Amino acid sequence: MVNFSQDFILNIDLSTFAGIFYSANNMSLKEEIAKRRTFGIISHPDAGKTTLTEKLLLFGGAIQTAGAVKSNKIKQSTTSDFMEIEKQRGISVATSVMGFEYNGLKINLLDTPGHQDFAEDTYRTLTAVDSVVMVIDCVKGVEIQTEKLMEVCRMRATPVISFINKLDREGRDPFELLDEIEEKLNIQVRPLSWPISMGKTFKGVYSLFNKTLLLFKGSQSKISKEDLIKIADINDPEIDRLVGESYAKQLREDVELIEGVYPEFDDEAYLRGEVAPVFFGSAVNNFGVQELLDCFIHIAPIPRKRSTEEREVLPEEDKFSGFVFKIHANIDPKHRNRIAFLRVCSGKFERAKNYYHVRLNKNFRFSNATAFMAQSKETIEEAFPGDIVGLYDTGNLKIGDTLTEGEKGIFKGIPSFSPEIFREVVNLDAMKSKQLDKGLKQLMEEGVAQLFTYELGSRKVVGTVGQLQFEVIQHRLKHEYGASCEFHAMNLYKACWIASKDKKQLDEFVKSKYRHIAKDKDDKLVFMAESKAWLGMVQDNFPEIEFHFTSEF
Ligand code: G4P
Repeated sequence: MVNFSQDFILNIDLSTFAGIFYSANNMSLKEEIAKRRTFGIISHPDAGKTTLTEKLLLFGGAIQTAGAVKSNKIKQSTTSDFMEIEKQRGISVATSVMGFEYNGLKINLLDTPGHQDFAEDTYRTLTAVDSVVMVIDCVKGVEIQTEKLMEVCRMRATPVISFINKLDREGRDPFELLDEIEEKLNIQVRPLSWPISMGKTFKGVYSLFNKTLLLFKGSQSKISKEDLIKIADINDPEIDRLVGESYAKQLREDVELIEGVYPEFDDEAYLRGEVAPVFFGSAVNNFGVQELLDCFIHIAPIPRKRSTEEREVLPEEDKFSGFVFKIHANIDPKHRNRIAFLRVCSGKFERAKNYYHVRLNKNFRFSNATAFMAQSKETIEEAFPGDIVGLYDTGNLKIGDTLTEGEKGIFKGIPSFSPEIFREVVNLDAMKSKQLDKGLKQLMEEGVAQLFTYELGSRKVVGTVGQLQFEVIQHRLKHEYGASCEFHAMNLYKACWIASKDKKQLDEFVKSKYRHIAKDKDDKLVFMAESKAWLGMVQDNFPEIEFHFTSEF
């Protein structure tokens, strides 16, 4: 019998509004959704993302030994060491999504490439998570990549938890770090734990969340129960005995200041992306990780609603929907098949069922679907909102594609950003131009870089975030497609997606600037601006035209 709980009644209201129907099975779907927490870990390279990921898996019971998660990064920035790049590709498939069960919850941890040249990949991965853990190095503070990533989180109001790492090192003053986060990342903070000294004299962390003291004893594989001391009152002389009088005094002063300066932690404000709770620890020493995980499962959001061009899609809707946020070419270059990473947004995904591919207006069956567990991939029969499914694909899927049970809306929120570096593609082997075109098309579908094709003369321009992609593209075109090309430098400042409410004005603009107009992968019009000053002038001269640095606006 259906239990007409308040939730169910609420659903009926919403469904009436959105024209959606829920079945009696909906309660079990809701239970599955309530179990899921899908999040990403982000940081500036070297802050400790890989280490924290591994330690979370260790504490979550998903792996048994440290060292199981390989570093997902390329050490040198412009290396020609292609083996390293190939390795990177292989590794990132294995460690891109790590699912594990913890305390009855299904946690999906999405890894993001550490290397800044792969920032676009990271941005896209962030569209598939419901929250984020941001690692900050206590010595270096907020770094440039962290600022950029925070911008992306802000675009979607993604809730952020901050983990200040490497407390075993002489770092910056914790209050100063909090101020820096507020200032540079433009988000309010609320410490939920507090360090007692740092570096050589690091004593431990006091949890403001559950009023416990965790003592630091150097490198430990597991933190035992004896290290966690319940302190009912911050004035308890036991603290003096454990950490020494002067550190105890400092802690009391700090806690008083925190309680005075920062408002009570407000989890609703965290869920709205307005306040970031902050934890302190030392990931390499397993310190502060358990506290982070335990608080995370308490406060992190369950799978959230997503928007398509037409409407908001709620996870608990009966009908399946999902979108592709990442494509990975198979490691074996002899086989052209790829894995598409699909985030389930609503309903239940079932293997081998027919789903509607909105962009191609065609049905597809995916008989080979995998889930990603901490150290393996396994075939699955079903998946629920929040889950990431790996679909084997021979070229029908690309980033941003939506699959549904027949509905036509495409999920929004996977924009392309204007690249930073632009190069013209010059074919070096006229006999292989077909291979070059095909290779470029497929690599762009994987999201390695962006291709812009000029209206005039069909010149092809590749845009990237960093230098490294050009080497990757050249190498892969040669080895996987047998095509050779060179990249010639171009003097471009930004790619601006253009639009106007007035179609006539837009046509006129395109006509008058036809030498600078290109189309992106989706045939959207792009104005290729050569300099900031020139763009400013053009904007002044054409006030009816909108210029956007992202493809979605
Ligand atoms: P990333 O993924 O964010 O790029 O960082 P990663 O975890 O690879 O960590 C970068 C370096 O910082 C590593 O040292 C790692 O051991 C170290 N590290 C991580 N957490 C802590 C910490 O809590 N305290 C201290 N002192 N160091 C930490 P490495 O020398 O680059 O590599 P490795 O040889 O130690 O693996």
